[in-house]
Amino acid sequence: MTGTALAQSATLRIFDTAAAAEQFVAETIAAQMRRRSNSVLGLATGNSMRGVYRQLVQLRQRGAVSFAGLTSFNLDEYCGLEATDPSSFAAYMQRELFSAIDADRARLHLPDGAADGAARYEAMIAASGGIDLQLLGIGQNGHIGFNEPGSAAGSRTRIVDLAPRTRAVNAADFPSDTPVPSRAVTMGIATILDSRRIVLLATGAAKAQALAEALEAPINAQCPASFLQTHPDLTIACDHAAVARLQHNPEARHG
Ligand code: GLP
Repeated sequence: MTGTALAQSATLRIFDTAAAAEQFVAETIAAQMRRRSNSVLGLATGNSMRGVYRQLVQLRQRGAVSFAGLTSFNLDEYCGLEATDPSSFAAYMQRELFSAIDADRARLHLPDGAADGAARYEAMIAASGGIDLQLLGIGQNGHIGFNEPGSAAGSRTRIVDLAPRTRAVNAADFPSDTPVPSRAVTMGIATILDSRRIVLLATGAAKAQALAEALEAPINAQCPASFLQTHPDLTIACDHAAVARLQHNPEARHG
């Protein structure tokens, strides 16, 4: 990976299966909670994260980790959906994680599309002391959170228009007669980069192109994930399918 800022700052961990990558991410989060019981986590949604949350719930059930001191901030949410709507990210988080861990619900935050919601969210993150560990997935078009291609490096939490490709991919999360919302609220690129540590999970062949551009293309707003190259503490957990398009001998950085 010479030629990008990534070489100095990132750790790429390649696992044989998506499940193993998910387990690594779950264990990394659990270790963070053990190290600092009042950690501030940035949380993500999407299919990739389901396995991570399943593992975290199991670790919790075994008594291997506690979330009692956790404060969390989710990356993003659709505009116009109630938290009770099963397709909302709030409902996803409730189903996949929040309902099964010992966290204080009052400290688990998602952004909302209210008029002053974005500025309030930034202020809440700052008041918490900032995000210790930000969990990220990656969209097929290189988005992180809902920072679609064209997002600026200095962007903060805001309302965005979703790209047609994102809406098409995410249609699977909605009933067939329900359109995917056209707008969402997302932490910005700068919000994400402010996190002290970032862990990106990318699994499956559908992510291979986006991951190659994120890690090896020059930093550019058309691939928002490429801004991660500038972060001083980035870990990328992947399976073999997701690294298939990397050029710079990823075999050297196995598991
Ligand atoms: C979404 C989310 C992202 C997520 C991405 C990939 O819509 N806003 O935070 O990383 O898409 O999701 P998946 O893991 O389902 O591929």
